[in-house]
Amino acid sequence: MARAALALAALASVAFANPVPDLSLPPLIPYISGISELLYQVVPPTPILQAPLPPIPAAKIPSSNLKPKKVGYFWTGSADQRYADFLATYSLDDDTFGEFIHLTEVPSSGNSPHHLGPSLDGKTIVGGGLLSLLKTQDTAFYFDTTDPYRPTFKKSNRAVLSSIADEIRAKPDGGFFITYMGSTVGTSPGRLVETDKDFNIIAEHPQDLASTINILGETFAPHGLSIDWDANLILTSDFVVPVTILKPSAGIIHANTLRLWNLEKRSIIRTLTIPNGGGIQDVKFIPGNKESAAIATAVHLGQVWIIYPFRTDKDGKQGTIELLYDLGEKARDTIAIYSDLTQDGRFAYFTLTTANHIAALDISDLDNVKRLDDPNVTQPTIGPHYLKVSPDQKHLVVTDYFVQTGEIGIINTPADFKALYIDIEDNGALNFNRTIDFTDFYKTRGGAKPHSVVIYDFTDPEKPIYY
Ligand SMILES: *[C@@H]1O[C@H](CO)[C@@H](O)[C@H](O)[C@H]1NC(C)=O
Ligand SMILES: *[C@@H]1O[C@H](CO)[C@@H](O)[C@H](O)[C@H]1NC(C)=O
Repeated sequence: MARAALALAALASVAFANPVPDLSLPPLIPYISGISELLYQVVPPTPILQAPLPPIPAAKIPSSNLKPKKVGYFWTGSADQRYADFLATYSLDDDTFGEFIHLTEVPSSGNSPHHLGPSLDGKTIVGGGLLSLLKTQDTAFYFDTTDPYRPTFKKSNRAVLSSIADEIRAKPDGGFFITYMGSTVGTSPGRLVETDKDFNIIAEHPQDLASTINILGETFAPHGLSIDWDANLILTSDFVVPVTILKPSAGIIHANTLRLWNLEKRSIIRTLTIPNGGGIQDVKFIPGNKESAAIATAVHLGQVWIIYPFRTDKDGKQGTIELLYDLGEKARDTIAIYSDLTQDGRFAYFTLTTANHIAALDISDLDNVKRLDDPNVTQPTIGPHYLKVSPDQKHLVVTDYFVQTGEIGIINTPADFKALYIDIEDNGALNFNRTIDFTDFYKTRGGAKPHSVVIYDFTDPEKPIYY
């Protein structure tokens, strides 16, 4: 008691000597005449589940002067959520593999860093914050990677109607499409957010009447996002209603649907359903497929389904969907199944998060899919989630961390916080080899949870690849 009183007195005298300046926060959402009046009617108050405290300054981790040809950027959360979230830059070259290069902080903490994506010209990387809204913070964080070895924080922003940033795709004009899985209070519908080349949000799709009725009619919680620029198509997949992963929760509400969109019009063509799918986490067009086919992952079923957007169903409607491959007992209800494919469209990889397993399929013949991994083998991974085939097509980079909401939510998947750099063999099979361990290196800043990765490959200086 006495000590506390003393401390308070000391604090008061300090405050007296150095008066605390007025705290002035700009309105989180600027007033827009006509629109703001409308928003009061449709947007319920935003919950603040965590105090929006600023991050604590962290001891600087010295940067290195390495300039590898292959660079890995990992979008990483401060594990104890007191320090700023950050982008960690690493070498992926063989001779300096896993060596740390640089750390770039964002101005806030507790965002639950989620997916990461590069712009078409490789000068910008954007990372989304899954749970930024719980601290009423910005949701998308932009990094300038003009100097690929010294990324700098450029800016951040938030949408007006939607939040919970997920998948990211670069637009040819320099901007981005980003799925925002929920509304600004984490309910359905979310939106497909679009930015211009300066990364200002220019739209939250859909906007036309028919598509708006579609997303109000059935859960729209877009997580997966894939775009076929030549075929003028977008596919989004609905995963979970985000607010239902937070307490108090009567159980997670999973979605069973995908939306097929007209890219040019940004309008929804139709809803496709995987009956009892239980969270369609991811969707990806198969590179080079002549019918613009795409694969989607159904988390409850542990299955991969295939969409043929130009085939017509028995009612004459555009778009069909059918089972492609059942990943088996171990794959059911594994919370998350994310995917990536090789650029030749031959091999597909899937992380089964709570099964601690990465599955590999040879899909060169879609009528005769072959499994390349043994589902019964114990693999050296805990909680694998985000994955990317490296630009050279020789490796699979997997981050071993999905989501840990802690006490405020009901999703806490075990993880070992490693980045796996798995060799892809000629037949597409996986050979677990090198890893980057995030557990000890970031001890001085409360630990680290790497969620996702972007890779730059400068092996051919004429044709750098940003992926
Ligand atoms: C995996 O184990 C299950 C149960 O022991 C068995 O039925 C199945 O055949 C095994 N699969 C493979 C590919 O070995
Ligand atoms: C692991 O990768 C290194 C570098 O490519 C390679 O030299 C080594 O043979 C690989 N190890 C195994 C066990 O495959």
